[in-house]
Amino acid sequence: MTQLNDTSSLLSFLKTRKSASAKAMTGPGPTPAQLHEIFNIAVRVPDHGKLSPWRFIVFEAAARAKIGEAFRSRWQALHPEHGEDSLNFQAGLFMRAPVVVAVVSTAAQHPKIPMWEQQMSGAAVCFTMELAAQALGFDVQWQTDWVAYDDVAKAAMGIKNAEQVAGLIYLGKSAVPLEDRPRPDVTSLVTQWGA
Ligand SMILES: Cc1cc2nc3c(=O)[nH]c(=O)nc-3n(C[C@H](O)[C@H](O)[C@H](O)COP(=O)(O)O)c2cc1C
Repeated sequence: MTQLNDTSSLLSFLKTRKSASAKAMTGPGPTPAQLHEIFNIAVRVPDHGKLSPWRFIVFEAAARAKIGEAFRSRWQALHPEHGEDSLNFQAGLFMRAPVVVAVVSTAAQHPKIPMWEQQMSGAAVCFTMELAAQALGFDVQWQTDWVAYDDVAKAAMGIKNAEQVAGLIYLGKSAVPLEDRPRPDVTSLVTQWGA
């Protein structure tokens, strides 16, 4: 099934929204004002203890190619056997969309709030960002990829070892029609306790 995200009503949007693929993304991306709006919506997530255990790093314009050079050299160090095509792909990771946002979980030990709950709040930030961007008419994809888990790539992005990449959110416009994926059958996921 190929269709747009139907933003005509809140319910129809929630029932039809789907991600794009970073592989087939183009511009335009959100303007600085739209990105500000997206962030303001994203931080309205449930957050046990009101810790705001997340932050954002924006990669746009020339910054995308610049970080790509760091990804290239790290990939080369990790995989010296890989050729130029592979290196170019890694260098171009963030060039695939006009705007890429790293949502960073800053979850840390806390006397009352488990880290797991802080991390889940970070996931909620990622998804709420996606909803906000889609509601504004953009297409998105939530990725992580190897750069989210590699300490050298993380350091190049300005992310500390103790922080986690909750998501790399690619924002732009899909160059191809969106395709939905099969969705889970909820009846197989729901049980009635005591039945
Ligand atoms: C934490 C997380 C990390 C993900 N990382 C990737 C990734 O690195 N590459 C990828 O192709 N999809 C990744 N995905 C999957 C896509 O973002 C997305 O779930 C999929 O394209 C379908 O999304 P939709 O249900 O919004 O249509 C990830 C999803 C999550 C929740």
